[in-house]
Amino acid sequence: MNLPNMQGAKIRTDKKVEHINLDNNIPKSFEGKKYFLRTYGCQMNVHDSEQIRKYLEKFGFTMTEELTEADIVVLNTCAIRENAHDKVFGFLGRCKHLKREKPELIIALGGCMSQEESVVNEIKAKHSYVDIVFGTHNIHELPKMILEANKKLNIMVYSYEGNVYENIKYSRDSKITAWVNIMYGCDKFCTYCIVPYTRGKQRSRKMENILEEVRELKELGYQEVTLLGQNVNAYGKDLDESYDFSVLLENVAKIGIPRVRFVTSHPWDFTDEMISLIAKHENIMPYIHLPLQSGSDRILKLMGRRYTKEEYLTLFNKIKENIPNVAITTDIIVGFPNETEEDFLETLDVVNKCQYDSAFTFIYSPREGTPASKIKDQTPYPEKEKRLQRLNEIINKYSLENNQKYIGKTEKVLLLGESEKDISKLYGYTETMKLVNVITDKDKVGKIIDVNITDAKSFSLDGKAI
Ligand code: SAH
Ligand code: SF4
Ligand code: F3S
Repeated sequence: MNLPNMQGAKIRTDKKVEHINLDNNIPKSFEGKKYFLRTYGCQMNVHDSEQIRKYLEKFGFTMTEELTEADIVVLNTCAIRENAHDKVFGFLGRCKHLKREKPELIIALGGCMSQEESVVNEIKAKHSYVDIVFGTHNIHELPKMILEANKKLNIMVYSYEGNVYENIKYSRDSKITAWVNIMYGCDKFCTYCIVPYTRGKQRSRKMENILEEVRELKELGYQEVTLLGQNVNAYGKDLDESYDFSVLLENVAKIGIPRVRFVTSHPWDFTDEMISLIAKHENIMPYIHLPLQSGSDRILKLMGRRYTKEEYLTLFNKIKENIPNVAITTDIIVGFPNETEEDFLETLDVVNKCQYDSAFTFIYSPREGTPASKIKDQTPYPEKEKRLQRLNEIINKYSLENNQKYIGKTEKVLLLGESEKDISKLYGYTETMKLVNVITDKDKVGKIIDVNITDAKSFSLDGKAI
């Protein structure tokens, strides 16, 4: 296939999406060589790295965590907030230094930052020691680019969304839990968010291909799958098919993997049917990440979130009432341009009403090319920092209170490995996605066991195997 050498993906097209089967024939051309891979972003980005790693390993590369040992460095970047940019360019500086001593070192930059036109221009102007820039729509072209790495900057970033590729192989991080992409891109265009530009328009995979992947994971003994998309409950809306997310979810659940999760749900696309499905199937986990972003109707409107505070609360309460013991977490942005104290208090009001199990909280970061970045912002930054601090104190208080309710209870925990803090324990997750450090036998890794919860902190629980 002839690759278009386009740069920057700020254009979206009506190009018809094709579903294409990949041929993963990669020659073992780099045996004995090492790769260093760093991943900066969300679960989607982490899962993309599992694909990248598979390619590198098929080539014969083995992984190293020592940058100085690497023959190829791949950075899988994130563009969601401005500070990611500085981190990545800081790291590239170190790579440049290394390349002076080891000129054959291949440096590849991928992920969402590669889809930003300004980043591509910056690489061209100041960082020509970089060998490869690849985008989020053409990860499958990375092997070809590595073979062609000829010490001349090679940029291949599609400026259109690309197709849906099937038969992707992954070198998965875990043999117990697995990510499964159900869709790519996002059509929501929240005004602050760069994702619809870096990942393109929504493209769903066909249900049969997803189910096939989940069946394979079951045969391999996986205990948990997480269906992955920027907006999973909009699944299927871009296909000429009659099914939607609830049909997919039910079919995945029926395959019988012990735990099925999904992330992320947009409140606007959440249906009653999904709620009853989660309540009905024991292997669909009672855990929902339901981003709020703001509690102020004025700000929600400016954000383009498509729901009001009242609508969000109604949905939240419906979920709580219908799914026993459900845990709900959220994302909140403080300091959207011109957010007032009153707007912020509306957010705190929702937090006080919902008492989330936990939340990811962010200070708004203007992203070039998004509508919100054009608003002249009068809210001083130190004020935003104070709001974030005030918000986090409340969030942490509820996290702790929610966790304390688990003390004395018996929870089913899927054990994933040795606890980082105390290697005499194993760590795992409850059905509601609470991290638990468990006193138990080491041979229980990969199993779901009953655990008596003995103590609770804001971010984890302690327990003992029964
Ligand atoms: N598709 C998911 C998550 C997208 S990114 C969703 O819609 O929920 C993850 C989180 O990053 C978002 O939920 C939002 O809270 C935050 N985020 C996105 N753009 C941001 C920006 N410009 N500044 C600060 N936080 C942002
Ligand atoms: Fe971004 Fe909104 Fe899409 Fe989430 S739903 S990825 S916040 S545009
Ligand atoms: Fe970042 Fe791209 Fe994910 S911007 S949050 S890696 S979709």
